[in-house]
Amino acid sequence: MDYILAIDQGTTSSRAVVFDRAGQPVAIAQREFQQHFPQPGWVEHDATEIWRTQLAVLREVLQCAGISARQVRSIGLTNQRETTVLWDRRTGEPVAPAIVWQDRRTAARCDALRAQGAHRTLARKTGLVLDAYFSGTKLEWLLDHVPGVRARAERGELAFGTIDSWLLWKLTGGRMHATDPSNASRTLLFNVHTQDWDDSLLALLRIPRSVLPQVLPSCGVMGETDADILGLSIPVAGCAGDQQAALFGQACFTPGMAKNTYGTGCFMLMNTGSAPVASRNQLLTTVAWQGPVGAPEPRTAYALEGSVFMAGATVQWLRDGLQIIQSADEVEVLAASVPDTGDVYLVPAFAGLGTPDWDGQARGTLVGMTRGTTRAHLARAALEAIAWQSADVFGAMARDSGLALTELRVDGGASRNNLLMQIQANVLGVPVVRSRVTETTALGAAYLAGLATGFWSGADEIAAQWAEDRRFEPQWSGVQREAGMARWREAVDRSRQWAQA
Ligand code: G3P
Repeated sequence: MDYILAIDQGTTSSRAVVFDRAGQPVAIAQREFQQHFPQPGWVEHDATEIWRTQLAVLREVLQCAGISARQVRSIGLTNQRETTVLWDRRTGEPVAPAIVWQDRRTAARCDALRAQGAHRTLARKTGLVLDAYFSGTKLEWLLDHVPGVRARAERGELAFGTIDSWLLWKLTGGRMHATDPSNASRTLLFNVHTQDWDDSLLALLRIPRSVLPQVLPSCGVMGETDADILGLSIPVAGCAGDQQAALFGQACFTPGMAKNTYGTGCFMLMNTGSAPVASRNQLLTTVAWQGPVGAPEPRTAYALEGSVFMAGATVQWLRDGLQIIQSADEVEVLAASVPDTGDVYLVPAFAGLGTPDWDGQARGTLVGMTRGTTRAHLARAALEAIAWQSADVFGAMARDSGLALTELRVDGGASRNNLLMQIQANVLGVPVVRSRVTETTALGAAYLAGLATGFWSGADEIAAQWAEDRRFEPQWSGVQREAGMARWREAVDRSRQWAQA
């Protein structure tokens, strides 16, 4: 029997999942790796450690599944997006730590570019808001600040990539330097209309074209793994950024279908079909995937996205920063021990604010505490914060699309938290529907690879595999929802522009 192997390289862990033909996970292996915070607002990863942990889980998951590499039809690759790696083409060694998507070191550079009016061109061409979140200014920073690197890049000695490119390079023994349009569209360097790197944007950020990867379809063979890795060569046949992969894994193939993934951050994406739709409400326009998904799907599908930087990471902060819980799972019981937050609001703007505020200078804020406030109220406020941030995005999406969104498909680790999902339904006022497979990110990558290698027949077969696990119906009245939202927005206002003070 054949299987598909998915690589899911996330912000805090490297994972590998084996899927069967029914789209069910057969085995999962996972390893956390180190987060580095060398300065306030900086977040770095060691790309070599990412590769090491990824390789280890790839080997481990086959053992757990009790299958041999010979039974793997193809590999699908999905990844934390935007995180920027620059490496030496000859040695395969990174020239500096990877700059993680959450890193704010280029916020001032973004402000300067905005002052020049560059944000308008960038938005028109890339579909993105000018923000330190994306790879462009991170790559520019590396070229400007790591000694000797710009000259080496100009001599063609260096390769840039988001994590997908880095892993593909490693998997293929340095033979392939490529990415897919869903990842490329997160760099501020990729024109979503022409679907190519844009020379005027490269000039704006002073990026030599020679460092850039080739852009290949998300669904299609990109290369073969080096035989040393798993004992024989296996095609890498699917690749997409993790949020786009989750949209695919949730079978959101029809324009208007949306999902929200609760990982380190929280990312809501809505399929908008075969043309890029510009947002009027601070959402991002992004490539969802590209490839022969099979008629009647378009060759390139686009999405509107709302990005919330702190979701699961807020719970991690309760655990590691405040130390009021010992494990992330404890948050649900603790938060459920109080009926409400007691009017306490936490705005987890630890890395600034994403959609819809896009304020790189905002900082974490806790308001409304009294002598009666306990850690249980803080835990509940943290869960509410995740839900309120998603509600902000959901509102922007409904306004942009002009569609009445009638439910929201959810997935990701924190979607297993029933209290959070109930709060989410309450603050949105529409049902929240959790899919049976919550590993939809990995599943999406597996589907892309499986479609490219004839493992699945087409979008219809995949859509038929989608199944509901649980539906959370809203329990709040409209008045309660609006009052809560107004209070939340007041708290957000207090967190804004704090870093400048
Ligand atoms: O844009 C960042 C996103 O891709 C990270 O996803 O799942 O690691 O929170 P995740």
